[in-house]
Amino acid sequence: MGEVILSLKISVIGTGYLGATHAACMAELGFEVVGLDTNPKKIEQLAAGVLPFHEPGLPELLRKHTSSGRLRFTTSYAEVGSWADVHFIAVGTPQKAGDHAADMTYVDGATSTLASHITKDCLIVGKSTVPVGTARRLGALINEQIEGDAKVGLLWNPEFLREGYAVEDTLRPDRLVVGGDSTAAIDVLRQVYATAINAGTPFIATDLETAELVKSAANAFLATKISFINAFSEVTEQVGGDIRVLADAIGLDNRIGRRFLNAGVGFGGGCLPKDIRALQARISELGLDRTMRFLTEVDEINLRRRDRVVHLAHEILEDIQGRKIAILGVAFKPHSDDVRDSPALDVAAQLFNAGADVSVYDPEGMANARLRFPRLNYATSAIDALRDSALTILLTEWDEFKTLDPSEVGQMVESKSIIDGRNVLRADVWQDEGWRFESLGRKSVYPDGAPFRSVCS
Ligand code: UDX
Repeated sequence: MGEVILSLKISVIGTGYLGATHAACMAELGFEVVGLDTNPKKIEQLAAGVLPFHEPGLPELLRKHTSSGRLRFTTSYAEVGSWADVHFIAVGTPQKAGDHAADMTYVDGATSTLASHITKDCLIVGKSTVPVGTARRLGALINEQIEGDAKVGLLWNPEFLREGYAVEDTLRPDRLVVGGDSTAAIDVLRQVYATAINAGTPFIATDLETAELVKSAANAFLATKISFINAFSEVTEQVGGDIRVLADAIGLDNRIGRRFLNAGVGFGGGCLPKDIRALQARISELGLDRTMRFLTEVDEINLRRRDRVVHLAHEILEDIQGRKIAILGVAFKPHSDDVRDSPALDVAAQLFNAGADVSVYDPEGMANARLRFPRLNYATSAIDALRDSALTILLTEWDEFKTLDPSEVGQMVESKSIIDGRNVLRADVWQDEGWRFESLGRKSVYPDGAPFRSVCS
């Protein structure tokens, strides 16, 4: 990477999950970076090298570059508007209250405020997940706001990072996608991403609409894959069979692939659920009502898995009033403290509302869960949650839950009943220790852990 590239000054607008990661990773690549957020508390924390959420590897990167001076934070649009050559927009697009569509308030607000403070030629690059057509609309908004004769280009560069692997996904992505009307502007992003491109990362240059749609399509496909296997769980629960073996067997077909075919309590988080709803809402708005109707089914299959766990709990306990239920996991997935649209927290809340005495434990998600649902009992450890419980439900597949010893925990519970909501425990091992073992999609006549299952985990 030469000096010309490193001389590009980068701003990242919005320092949430996406923005904080992107800012720290851009600094790691050698650029001078300023992260902007309108929340002064967040800026203060980040400037002091404190990350307000759990993400492996990111605190180290943040501290490294706030110390080196390559990364700083501000609340001032005037500061970034007169300084940066490339502005990344990384603010959130949450689901609108009472509506499936995405709330564009933050993207629109950030873009127009930024544009009104720009005093030098630069590029604005959208990273947020947005409904198709947003970039062109923002282009018009930017032109209205620009004062003076600064030339401002607009590109769309969707982000595909997974929580828990955010640094790795940003520094070494599977692919880079950049949409825009100007090849010269796209070439500037080739410079920004030179390290990854030189390491062989495919760089897809396209138009704005395709770039916006790539992100929606990727998330819709992943959600569909999960609901596809979960739909088959409903079948194996009825007729018998083992959903994990079914997933292994179809996953060995290279055209299908095994990843994202883990059946269980389904998908949650800040992205997949709201993104499939926003996509559907946008496509309906375009008059193509039928086109994405299957996503309603994808969403419903997903939510039905949560109901299935609640139903199983009622079936096992008969009367759940006042019975202690231990819930292992509240984060929407392991290696994250995020509880947004978490299937685990949803199930915990449903059981609590039905009268159960719910005790939850999660290695990272407790603080966020407590904020959202303060009335659950928050245990100090998995063992603390399990003690005297009439039913144990595993809903987030953290390693420490996968390795629980059924004999040891069997001595602490009131009743040896467990629901494996993520299909990560061996039924035979738990049953041998006298547990009633229920799972989602497994009713196999074959012993668990048989050699034919060794191909995928
Ligand atoms: C997702 C996309 O993967 C990422 O590319 C995009 O940028 C943002 O949304 P993330 O929300 O971090 O990332 O989580 P992901 O790893 O995709 O998992 C989403 C949910 O699906 C989790 O609740 C997870 O438990 C569930 N899941 C995943 C399954 O139920 N089964 C699977 O096989 C895989």
